[in-house]
Amino acid sequence: MNNCKIRAKDTVNNVWWFSKTEWPKADVSKVLAPYSDRMKKLIEDPAAFYSPKNRPSGHAIGEGFGKDNGGAIPSNLLQIPNTDSNGGYLRGCKTVGIKGHPARFPAKLPEFFIKFLTDPGDLVVDIFAGSNTTGRVAEDLGRRWLGYELSAEYVAASAFRFLDRDAPAARLSEVCAALAAGQTLDLKSDSGLPGLAAE
Ligand SMILES: C[S@@+](CC[C@H](N)C(=O)[O-])C[C@H]1O[C@@H](n2cnc3c(N)ncnc32)[C@H](O)[C@@H]1O
Repeated sequence: MNNCKIRAKDTVNNVWWFSKTEWPKADVSKVLAPYSDRMKKLIEDPAAFYSPKNRPSGHAIGEGFGKDNGGAIPSNLLQIPNTDSNGGYLRGCKTVGIKGHPARFPAKLPEFFIKFLTDPGDLVVDIFAGSNTTGRVAEDLGRRWLGYELSAEYVAASAFRFLDRDAPAARLSEVCAALAAGQTLDLKSDSGLPGLAAE
């Protein structure tokens, strides 16, 4: 609560990245950020910006500084607006009369780490899957995935992320009820996705 108007909104969440090894699989070149306008100009015409020399700080500014690497190394502050449309997911929830998951992550968050740390075909595991944003993103990026979630209702609703957008309301309700009751369903014929099974 901020009724007294004495503090700004809390908009930063920490993300901890743990590794079992000192040199985990990671490739920052897969998540390059767009260059700044200044850097774009520098790449276009490096000579207009600097000449290779040693700075007083001791840093050597060489020719390679103006090389186009396809993007900049991203900073460790990811700025992701929480404005995902979640179209199919929320439409499904509305159709069957349930509330969407209250703490969904924006898709760009798992997308960054999945691209950064895995290759197509790798396995992505989310042990607190919620509405399964992670699974949907992993599927879109060609990774295999597993999601674990305590609430059967959240698992049931997460299926809406994978059902055909034009699925009839009766099918949405049927799938949701079956999953909420703990049944196992194979949804691949509903989604057009190969081998998609929910347990
Ligand atoms: C912050 S939400 C995850 C939201 C998710 N990233 C998304 O985009 O929808 C955390 C989830 O963890 C689930 N959870 C909490 N304890 C759990 C447990 N022991 N095992 C599995 N899931 C658990 C909660 O039910 C909740 O849905």
